[in-house]
Amino acid sequence: MIEESVECEVWWASPTQSDPALLELLDGAERARHGRFQRAADRDRYAVAHALARLVLAEAAGCGPTEVSFTLDCPHCDGEKEREPHGKPRPAGPAAGLELSISHSGDRVAVALTRGAPVGVDVEEVSERRDVEGLAEMVLAPAERTALAALPAERAALAFHDYWARKEALLKASGEGIYGGLTGVSISPPGEPPRVLSWSTPGAPPLDRVRLQDLDAGPGYRAALAVLTSAPVAVTVHGASPLPAARPAGGAPPH
Ligand SMILES: CC(C)(COP(=O)(O)OP(=O)(O)OC[C@H]1O[C@@H](n2cnc3c(N)ncnc32)[C@H](O)[C@@H]1OP(=O)(O)O)[C@@H](O)C(=O)NCCC(=O)NCCS
Ligand SMILES: [Zn+2]
Repeated sequence: MIEESVECEVWWASPTQSDPALLELLDGAERARHGRFQRAADRDRYAVAHALARLVLAEAAGCGPTEVSFTLDCPHCDGEKEREPHGKPRPAGPAAGLELSISHSGDRVAVALTRGAPVGVDVEEVSERRDVEGLAEMVLAPAERTALAALPAERAALAFHDYWARKEALLKASGEGIYGGLTGVSISPPGEPPRVLSWSTPGAPPLDRVRLQDLDAGPGYRAALAVLTSAPVAVTVHGASPLPAARPAGGAPPH
């Protein structure tokens, strides 16, 4: 029997689309968190990501964006009850049954949506300044570090961010986050299609229920998408987000 494919929708947006009007789409907890960010860039990424998430969930659920609610679920503690709520966002209310993942880095915001199958999306800005060797200890399994060490520096930086985005996408899909243990996931070596070779964290699904692929986030970024299902995944990437268009750099919002 051929399994029906799982539809996954991915939206890209930019923090330059931030606008005070977007805050009206967020709930009180989101607005409070938004207000606590020190840096404008973090506030903009957060506002755009959460407004976009609400718009796409509302569209899929057939309700208004402010009717959408999330619970936050951290397997390591009681994410909802912590002073700063955190963890995997789980759509609730009219959007219950939908699965969502949010990522933001640099000038990129991504939201991924499925129905029924857990999803994780991750985008990483490739930073030359990052101490790839130091971070490799925390992110990569021994065989992955060996594969990276064999590459010239520029290739190694890209390959490192590929590993990182792929692992974070997987650990966001499982809901474990990086505390799940990035070294507990092993990915196919650079130059090969992305594939999970082993996954030993407590929340890991059987490998035949893992679909992993890269997303094109443009130059200077690496991105990946994980869906936990044994079915084929049909991904639709939306070029235009349902948010208002981006402001011209340094200028006022368009009228
Ligand atoms: C959140 C995390 C999975 C990804 O982080 P990142 O690459 O730095 O940031 P991204 O922008 O790609 O992803 C952030 C989004 O992931 C989502 N997220 C957070 N925790 C998650 C989890 N456990 N599973 C799935 N998604 C999660 C949130 O929607 C968050 O967006 P928001 O901050 O706008 O609400 C990772 O940083 C992490 O696990 N951090 C530890 C969380 C923590 O501090 N826990 C407290 C101790 S229990
Ligand atoms: Zn926690």
